[in-house]
Amino acid sequence: MNNLSQIYISIRMNKRNWTIKDIPDLTGKTIIVTGANTGLGFESVKAFARNGANVVMACRSLEKGEVSRKQIIRLYPSSIIQVMQLDLADLKSIRSFAATFRESHAHLDVLLNNAAVMMVPYSVTKDGFESQMGINHLGHFALTRILLDVLKKTPGSRVVNVSSLSHKQGMMDFDNLLFENGKDFSPIKAYGRSKLSNLLFTYELQRFFDLKGIDCMALAAHPGISNTNKPSREESNLLLKIYKLSFSYIIQPPAMGALPEIRASVDPFVKPGEFYGPGGMLELSGYPVPVHPKRSAFDIESAQKLWTISEKLTSVTYE
Ligand SMILES: NC(=O)c1ccc[n+]([C@@H]2O[C@H](COP(=O)([O-])OP(=O)(O)OC[C@H]3O[C@@H](n4cnc5c(N)ncnc54)[C@H](OP(=O)(O)O)[C@@H]3O)[C@@H](O)[C@H]2O)c1
Repeated sequence: MNNLSQIYISIRMNKRNWTIKDIPDLTGKTIIVTGANTGLGFESVKAFARNGANVVMACRSLEKGEVSRKQIIRLYPSSIIQVMQLDLADLKSIRSFAATFRESHAHLDVLLNNAAVMMVPYSVTKDGFESQMGINHLGHFALTRILLDVLKKTPGSRVVNVSSLSHKQGMMDFDNLLFENGKDFSPIKAYGRSKLSNLLFTYELQRFFDLKGIDCMALAAHPGISNTNKPSREESNLLLKIYKLSFSYIIQPPAMGALPEIRASVDPFVKPGEFYGPGGMLELSGYPVPVHPKRSAFDIESAQKLWTISEKLTSVTYE
């Protein structure tokens, strides 16, 4: 296909709603989805499996992952899905997940960094990081680095980081990035910072790929607002419940909320460094389109500082 016909098709695709019907055949593609047992991760796995991908569900709990895998197999009996244990709150578990993955896979087409904890009270990961920064940003930062060799070996591979509209409330504070001992902590502040970090990381990762001539794209996505958390999880998280109730008039089902991250992962027409979100009012709902983050998400100095600190904290080096 020449450039002109690619541009033409791309314009047409943006004019109408992008849905799972636009997913190409994914036979032979390998996709890792973190936080795959429920919510948007689960919906993404379903969509990838439906189109023939070889999907690895990276789940904190193998049991929960297996229950979800069986649900998908019932829908698409020929799908190829594996469940592997990954706790993003533990650097040791991240390394062991990557080692297990490598035992059975020589390439990786898409790493979908979807898992997160949202607006939870102050707590720390196994490595002592505030949980939202630790799981949502640092865990995925380390995982991406540790899987870089397989991404490099796969032409046209992608890393997709799932952010949130809450990145707009996020502020970086490099003197106290991890809210040490709860200083200046609030669940909303920490969640916002972690989601802004997802975007700063995405843009810096794309610059890294460009600089090193690596044939891999970094993209980001956000779901608007989607009804994913199970009731039990919301009952124990009043803040999240209030947040979702206040948007209940517009909240979209998980299958819709997952479309931006699915599009960023597999649409052949995406461009490096793009950010996908719902195209409706205030990006709260609707079909996925390229969207723009707040301006500070593009701040190169912040992105470089975050990168350097993240390397130090997680003991990984991008090279
Ligand atoms: N839903 C929304 O309205 C909304 C809005 C903006 C952004 N987002 C973003 O969308 C993404 C998916 O959210 P969701 O709504 O689908 O959330 P969800 O239903 O709460 O699912 C989160 C997933 O992350 C997993 N997870 C949590 N901590 C983990 C850890 N330490 N290691 C590995 N996995 C872990 C969970 O596993 P367990 O089941 O074991 O806990 C679960 O599978 C997140 O990045 C979130 O920030 C969601």
